[in-house]
Amino acid sequence: MAASFLPSGRSTAIGLPFQRRRRISANSFPLVVRSAGGEGSPAAEPDLSVKVNGLEMPNPFVIGSGPPGTNYTVMKRAFDEGWGAVIAKTVSLDASKVVNVTPRYARLRAGSNGSAKGQIIGWENIELISDRPLETMLNEFKQLKKEYPDRILIGSIMEEYNKDAWHQLIERVEEAGVDALEINFSCPHGMPERKMGAAVGQDCALLEEVCGWINEKATVPVWAKMTPNITDITQPARVSLKSGCEGIAAINTIMSVMGIDLNTLRPEPSVEGYSTPGGYSSKAVHPIALGKVMQIAQMMKAEFSDKEYSLSGIGGVETGNDAAEFILIGANTVQVCTGVMMHGYGLVKKLCDELKDFMRKHNFSSIEEFRGVSLQYFTTHTELVRRQQEAISQRKAIRKGLQSDKDWTGDGFVKETESMVSN
Ligand SMILES: Cc1cc2nc3c(=O)[nH]c(=O)nc-3n(C[C@H](O)[C@H](O)[C@H](O)COP(=O)(O)O)c2cc1C
Repeated sequence: MAASFLPSGRSTAIGLPFQRRRRISANSFPLVVRSAGGEGSPAAEPDLSVKVNGLEMPNPFVIGSGPPGTNYTVMKRAFDEGWGAVIAKTVSLDASKVVNVTPRYARLRAGSNGSAKGQIIGWENIELISDRPLETMLNEFKQLKKEYPDRILIGSIMEEYNKDAWHQLIERVEEAGVDALEINFSCPHGMPERKMGAAVGQDCALLEEVCGWINEKATVPVWAKMTPNITDITQPARVSLKSGCEGIAAINTIMSVMGIDLNTLRPEPSVEGYSTPGGYSSKAVHPIALGKVMQIAQMMKAEFSDKEYSLSGIGGVETGNDAAEFILIGANTVQVCTGVMMHGYGLVKKLCDELKDFMRKHNFSSIEEFRGVSLQYFTTHTELVRRQQEAISQRKAIRKGLQSDKDWTGDGFVKETESMVSN
């Protein structure tokens, strides 16, 4: 039985594929076997399986596009370890135009400034999309789908502002057997210089046109991956869904400068003494990602059918609780990129165990049972003030703490502020 605060009348069905689509994998991955439960018998094992845009996954944990999906060996590893789905590193038609540099990563550690020992909490990269030949990547997709026909492989794609190029890329990637496509409208560095990635995701007119091209060609579900480097992320998300995409994935990395070396006075990561703004990821971006995903989820709840469209939460996930937060605000799946780079593919077992622990604690038996439950607790600041005034007036009889800011003494601001609430 779910906790009593579940909104009544909430749909528990997960989205079926958009009507005009498409090829859906007929085979379903063997899902978690649940015990009968009932009086006297042990509680049923929480079921982590999800069905998103018709795609069945054993759990909601998806390898986010990046180094963890860069070639056959690592993607096979991900399937073997039990990831719910894999999104390959972004591909384009002509990999010879993609030229990477080294170093391309820089890390932020917790602790005193410049400490080399602290835990990594932030990660910046100036890595481009895949620089491996498209043909090589496609052969590897084919091989993976041959070996793992029941598992979900998603191709991540990006192209220049050219309809024929997009159509050609979609055709070739679909031929390789992918189950869905994620469109990288969000790479923040390098590619925008070629009017690709975030350059499209930040321009709603361009985005609408390119989504139109993509969706007139694609025959598998399409997720649009959003850049957070924009004032209102709901605008491109809305345009993408209205232009035929079935899902939104958010967020890609946040435009950043990791730091300046105070000895050399050069920015980092330093490539021959120079740098360029990069993309920020890992634990430090998690609250920002939650904020963006929450805004998209609210927009989708208000304007789009929960049954047809999906949402994939991305950003700083390293624990089952991080994932639970994304699901509580409406995500169907949760992607992990930097977390896998730091902790390895075995991380999925810890993520599943921790998410199950969370579900047991609240008596949730399925992901759908708690998906989006916390969305209802977001409101405006004006409403917070109204609720607080109402609560305070109800509790006025027993006065223990301070009445308002004017009573602060300056000793222990947090304690004094909280005492106002607990009046
Ligand atoms: C080194 C690196 C390379 C990445 N490459 C891609 C890419 O090719 N395509 C893409 O859509 N996202 C790419 N990303 C973004 C991630 O998929 C993800 O959106 C972002 O890092 C936030 O999630 P995280 O904190 O779990 O890493 C990359 C991220 C990193 C750290």
